[in-house]
Amino acid sequence: MKFSSPFASLLALVSIAAAVPKSRNDGVIRIPLARKSADVAGHVDMSALSAHLFSVSNKYRQTFSAFEANTGYAHPLSGKMRSSIRERDVPLINQGTELWYGEIDVGTPPQTFNVSIDSGSTDLFLPSASCLDCAGHKMYHAAASSTAKDEGKFVSLSYGEGQVIGDEYSDDVFLGGYEASSQIFLAASEYSSNFAYPDFQPDGLLGFAFEEISGLEAKSVFETISDSGVLPERVFSVKLSSTAGESELSIGATNPNLYIEDTLTYTAVTKEGYWQVNLEAVSRGGSTVASNSVSIIDTGTTMIITTDDAAEAYYQDIPGSSNSTQGGITYYYIPCDTIGSYTPTFSFGGRSFGVSEETFNLGPESDGSSDCLGGIAGMSDLDFWVVGGVFLQNVYTVFDQGNTQVGFAELA
Ligand SMILES: *[C@@H]1O[C@H](CO)[C@@H](O)[C@H](O)[C@H]1NC(C)=O
Ligand SMILES: *[C@@H]1O[C@H](CO)[C@@H](O)[C@H](O)[C@H]1NC(C)=O
Repeated sequence: MKFSSPFASLLALVSIAAAVPKSRNDGVIRIPLARKSADVAGHVDMSALSAHLFSVSNKYRQTFSAFEANTGYAHPLSGKMRSSIRERDVPLINQGTELWYGEIDVGTPPQTFNVSIDSGSTDLFLPSASCLDCAGHKMYHAAASSTAKDEGKFVSLSYGEGQVIGDEYSDDVFLGGYEASSQIFLAASEYSSNFAYPDFQPDGLLGFAFEEISGLEAKSVFETISDSGVLPERVFSVKLSSTAGESELSIGATNPNLYIEDTLTYTAVTKEGYWQVNLEAVSRGGSTVASNSVSIIDTGTTMIITTDDAAEAYYQDIPGSSNSTQGGITYYYIPCDTIGSYTPTFSFGGRSFGVSEETFNLGPESDGSSDCLGGIAGMSDLDFWVVGGVFLQNVYTVFDQGNTQVGFAELA
């Protein structure tokens, strides 16, 4: 997979032009959409899911490359993927795989967009007014924004199942009412079909990870806001739910109504780049299946993905379990009537958090099947755990940039 980005030095000129502040609910963004790709006609949409997981693998490949370009050394987790960088023969299907999205405003006067919320990457991209493949999406009109600045670089970002290509711009971006002045982002003139509307519902994608893995060599919108010193606390927090209207992103604070305060437990980010933390233990039915594993907290991935060995260890001995491998990803099935007895518990920072049957069971393998897809999958070129929506829907998550730690709490 080709990943390219001109790694010239960035001149992030801080704009002092008056932006039009747009007040939103004090840093709170309600995220309208629930998970979309699962559950089509009463069974899990395997083709959408495997396209999505294939894209996850490529997202990590790209962000590892960006890390190396930005820092001059290979990311310690990139080993297995570096040795297996090759094109894969996987059918890429145009299916919506976006997870949770919310609104941002860009420019002066503000133009509003829906963006997918991705803690596993750093950059922001939006369709530009010149994008021919972007019908149905809202497009960014640089000419209509008095604060827009063309940075004079043509860049492409690859997200595996999709690619976006276009001009790097800076403009003022408003997230939860907070301003990221002169934020660098990609105004894409080409969207690959996987980002086409309506399969991909939001207009663009907003990364929340650290600058080290940015393909644009830029801070994330959140980092720009946080570094400007305006936030009460340098955190963003999410509640993710598959029930419409229940998901929420808070900028600069946590929402104490959404979690049980004395259960909030922090664990240190072990390496800045991803939101990477030590996963103390994964257990099932009281026995530990994995301990002290590297994990990445990723709101942009539906499932929990781990190494083939760890996934195999998780499901072994479950009566009636089976598995199938597609495109380097091994999916495991458990009889639907017993899957609720085999849900995992994840421990971070000394506290255990259970995964509910509702979030672990992704649904029957096919129509009328009595086998249901389990929420943990194995990926042959992973060396770590990607902790995605299957786990994150069970907790309130605090991404604390100020203290470089991640907090999890029981939902209220
Ligand atoms: C964002 O998505 C929500 C839910 O689909 C929709 O109601 C809203 O109008 C969208 N906003 C924009 C700017 O398109
Ligand atoms: C996965 O499939 C292989 C081959 O059918 C089998 O040997 C193995 O036991 C399966 N593992 C689980 C946990 O079902």
